[in-house]
Amino acid sequence: MRIDIITVEPNLLESPFEHSMLKRAKEKGLAEIHLHDLREFGKGNYRQVDDYQFGGGAGMVLMIEPIAQCIEKLQAERTYDEIIYMTPDAKTLNQATANMLSLKENIIILTGHYKGVDQRVRDKYITLEISIGDYVLTGGELAAAVLCDAVIRLIPGVLGDETSALTDSFQDNLLSPPVYTRPSEYDGMKVPEILLSGNFPKIEQWREEQAFERTKKIRPDLLD
Ligand code: ADE
Repeated sequence: MRIDIITVEPNLLESPFEHSMLKRAKEKGLAEIHLHDLREFGKGNYRQVDDYQFGGGAGMVLMIEPIAQCIEKLQAERTYDEIIYMTPDAKTLNQATANMLSLKENIIILTGHYKGVDQRVRDKYITLEISIGDYVLTGGELAAAVLCDAVIRLIPGVLGDETSALTDSFQDNLLSPPVYTRPSEYDGMKVPEILLSGNFPKIEQWREEQAFERTKKIRPDLLD
């Protein structure tokens, strides 16, 4: 999978891809991330990328020309399956969307800043808009990093344990059951007996029950 991220803050995005799972995915050749500094497509000597909004109001808006130039340069090089815009005024990211995107080959992610982008960018180029939650970040960069993590870890071969992603919370619309490791007793708190029993069908059943109970208590909306 190749992901091209268009941003006015490329520095903010360098670090997340240099560590842990995202770094390994890159090293194994399973995911390629390319950062594009929108300012390189900015207008004039000052490389202007934003301007005041028509109709008045606080906050700057990213202009269409630099974004159009950057997207069209990339589109001339390859075909993209999705051009995604990270914005709080969109549907919220969930596991189903991450699963769907993990099957794609080439993706562009556009990150907003200030008041967002000119609506015409969204109308003309964007195929999918994603929010990571009902709160506003300073820019879409951290949201893009969240999306990349959620998607790339699902690519076969990225996680060491192939089945691990399949048993994540949300894969079956349930939260994960509780997990334990050694010691089997700490400060009088014992690991549930069943987990030490070696009876794997029973353990599986226990986990399913726990997942259901946890979901009912914390996120009943997932059961609807
Ligand atoms: N940009 C600013 N806030 C955001 C959010 N919640 N999700 C995605 N992009 C954003």
